Amino acid sequence: MAKSKKLLGLDIGTTKIACVIAEIDNSGKLNILGHGISMPEGFRNGVVINLERAVDSAAQAIGQAEKLANLRAKNCEIYVGIAGEYIKHLPSIGTVPVKNPAKGISEKDISEVIRQAQTIRLPNDEQIIHLIPNQYIVDGQKGIRNPIGMFGFRLEVEALLIIGTVSAIENIHRVLDHLELKAESLVLQPQAVSLAVAEPEDKDLGIAIVDIGGMTNVSIFKDGVLRYYKTLPLGGENLTKDISIGLRTPYKKAEEIKRVYGTAMISSIEHDEPIIIEDISGRVNKQISQRLLASIIEPRLEEILQHVDNAIRETGYAESLSGGVILTGGTSLLKGIDLLAEQIFRLPVKIGKPQTIDDTQTEGIMTDFTTAIGLVRYGLNGNSLSLPHEENVLTEVVSKVKELFI
Ligand SMILES: Nc1ncnc2c1ncn2[C@@H]1O[C@H](COP(=O)(O)OP(=O)(O)OP(=O)(O)O)[C@@H](O)[C@H]1O
Ligand SMILES: [Mg+2]
Repeated sequence: MAKSKKLLGLDIGTTKIACVIAEIDNSGKLNILGHGISMPEGFRNGVVINLERAVDSAAQAIGQAEKLANLRAKNCEIYVGIAGEYIKHLPSIGTVPVKNPAKGISEKDISEVIRQAQTIRLPNDEQIIHLIPNQYIVDGQKGIRNPIGMFGFRLEVEALLIIGTVSAIENIHRVLDHLELKAESLVLQPQAVSLAVAEPEDKDLGIAIVDIGGMTNVSIFKDGVLRYYKTLPLGGENLTKDISIGLRTPYKKAEEIKRVYGTAMISSIEHDEPIIIEDISGRVNKQISQRLLASIIEPRLEEILQHVDNAIRETGYAESLSGGVILTGGTSLLKGIDLLAEQIFRLPVKIGKPQTIDDTQTEGIMTDFTTAIGLVRYGLNGNSLSLPHEENVLTEVVSKVKELFI
């Protein structure tokens, strides 16, 4: 019997590191075997700021997952999520004459056109991480997803290049090196998240995925591929800070109050429950109302969602998002956030839920692993061309292209 494939997804988030280990069984189904979580010490917003501590915190999350899965990470294919302000994207076009039109467009033509699309001048401190082919164009005929075998004289590709800062990327590889692990690929987080919370049909129709974690990642998928991605330096932590200041309570308490009693919209509170909170001194207990808490949360969340709306509208895709908006990330657990988001976006909004890890997992725990689950799904059926760590980029790209078209 064929050996099942083992995959590990490592999500280095702003507020936590999450890891899942999964296997693909012989029927092609993904089973989650283990999961782990740790504080992202040594990282700031996904970027390594202290190598030793970063190695320790990654080791913790990976170790917990290894233990539950009863499997070593080094025996898995490893996919690491990347996001943040050090990642940007650029549209790019490649054009080549088809070598032998009579025989049809070949894999070689495709690798050549992809090579072309990558030949852009980048500053020394930036590198290409992914190349996402949006469409192929054969003799001016647009909208082709797989041109292999087609007749034509001129092949073009319209692609999205995902570009990152060399040092930030290299340091993630360093963390893994210290753990004697090697990433199969670094994966743009929105790509991974989309595989955990969206159906391929949604991505065809057009959807925005808004991942509100420590920061907010906005991504847009249309015709099955990623069209746009932006990180906004705002998120759930801003809500906690406002609560901490507004209620004069320690940050940790504010975080707890937000998770347990927080509501996104004052108007959706029917029975206003009193909440007992600790004062900043840690001594005095005082009583506040749920409405008061919501009155701190709502304006800040509205501001964040307004920035998201602006980001979506500036892309020009807003009118064509027939699949609506999927909200995900920790802040999507806030009661009533979907209603507030619908008002602001004027689009249908749903909360994205990943597959359950096991029957005992609560919604909150599952949300923590959304990106990591998406990463292992990416390993199962990735849909962009990840450029590997080594120099031999093109060989890898060609083999990935082959895989995609089989
Ligand atoms: N039940 C809840 N209600 C409200 N907010 C919550 C809840 N659970 C978690 N959060 C908030 O979600 C945020 C963390 O979300 P998440 O785990 O998605 O972030 P992350 O993946 O670490 O960050 P990023 O993806 O931006 O790098 C925190 O601000 C946390 O307070
Ligand atoms: Mg996240």
